[in-house]
Amino acid sequence: MISLIFNQIFKLSATTSIINSHIQEMEKLVSSWCKNKPLPESYIFPPETRPGNLVVPTCNSIPVIDLSKAEGQNRTHTVQQILKAGQEYGFFQLVNHGVPESLMNESMDVFKEFFEMPWEDKAMLYSEDPKNSCRLSTSSVNYAREKIHHWRDNLRHPCHPLQSCIKHWPQKPTRYREVVATYTIEAKKLGLRILELVSEGLGLESRYFGDKLSESEILSINHYPPCPDPSLTLGVAKHCDPNLLTLLHQGDVSGLQVFNNGEWIGVEPLHDAFVVNIGNQLQIISNNKLKSVEHRVVTNSRVARTSAGLFIGPSEDSIIEPEKSLVDDSPFYRAFEFKDFLLHYFPNLEDNEVVMGRFKLQA
Ligand code: OGA
Ligand code: NI
Repeated sequence: MISLIFNQIFKLSATTSIINSHIQEMEKLVSSWCKNKPLPESYIFPPETRPGNLVVPTCNSIPVIDLSKAEGQNRTHTVQQILKAGQEYGFFQLVNHGVPESLMNESMDVFKEFFEMPWEDKAMLYSEDPKNSCRLSTSSVNYAREKIHHWRDNLRHPCHPLQSCIKHWPQKPTRYREVVATYTIEAKKLGLRILELVSEGLGLESRYFGDKLSESEILSINHYPPCPDPSLTLGVAKHCDPNLLTLLHQGDVSGLQVFNNGEWIGVEPLHDAFVVNIGNQLQIISNNKLKSVEHRVVTNSRVARTSAGLFIGPSEDSIIEPEKSLVDDSPFYRAFEFKDFLLHYFPNLEDNEVVMGRFKLQA
């Protein structure tokens, strides 16, 4: 009996100490400490990378493409629009894309609710181990090693295969799993549709990207609290996405900027649109016919911003190389295994030249 009680107490105190260590770590989340505090030194970017007070044109130049036109006579035109946007900007926005407006709204509501929950409901998900399959963290993947922290909290988890992933997803808000499962299934279908149109435009068979090259699906939800000095810090520093294709639901608050022709341009929030961007792997496979372009996120002092990116990418054991039929003279990149790309990407993610340089062939 005594040993039973002892065991119970021991179990209880072990659980309590796990929770305590989570609480301590969770205090790193921007949202846990930022209210009414000045911007800490460790969030101040050097003058050459901080956004400053420049008014960035919220742009009319990132193309907005109406996907409903892709079925029917205008298909070729839509394919051309996508390819052109992918070549010139690496980015486009999609409207009339078929993911129901109610589902987009409901998922955004659930994402916001998640970040608004009290810390007790989130503590068990906090982790600094990138291998954890569902984790709440802050700043970039390199929190412990980075010189400057980013003004964002982040929840991320894989979505495929759904049956084995979903049990690691948040249990609260109670409708999280149901809503987010429906949302990610629909968004993945849309991603595959875009990849089919891209394939058509490149002259590849329409299912070219449909199998292992798009097998991995990671949902990454960003929460950027209001910031005391947006001119000095960034929500996410400049980077390219390492995957094949990203579908971003950016809600109604601006913040995303894309580097184009030597300047940063803002991506205007369009209610219910998806912002789509080309990842590093699509640039490599298309042998530079499409571009993955650097982007960053600025903060604002008025309202919190929540965004959700669905990262569609290759399985880790996929071999990536420029598609032979897209090589005119010589390929720009060597063949490699996707997991080697990721190993090199994460420590260097703020420098796309260094990331891509390792896989480039000399001219
Ligand atoms: C990202 C990203 C943009 C945003 O998570 O890779 O670029 O608007 N996010 O949150
Ligand atoms: Ni990105």
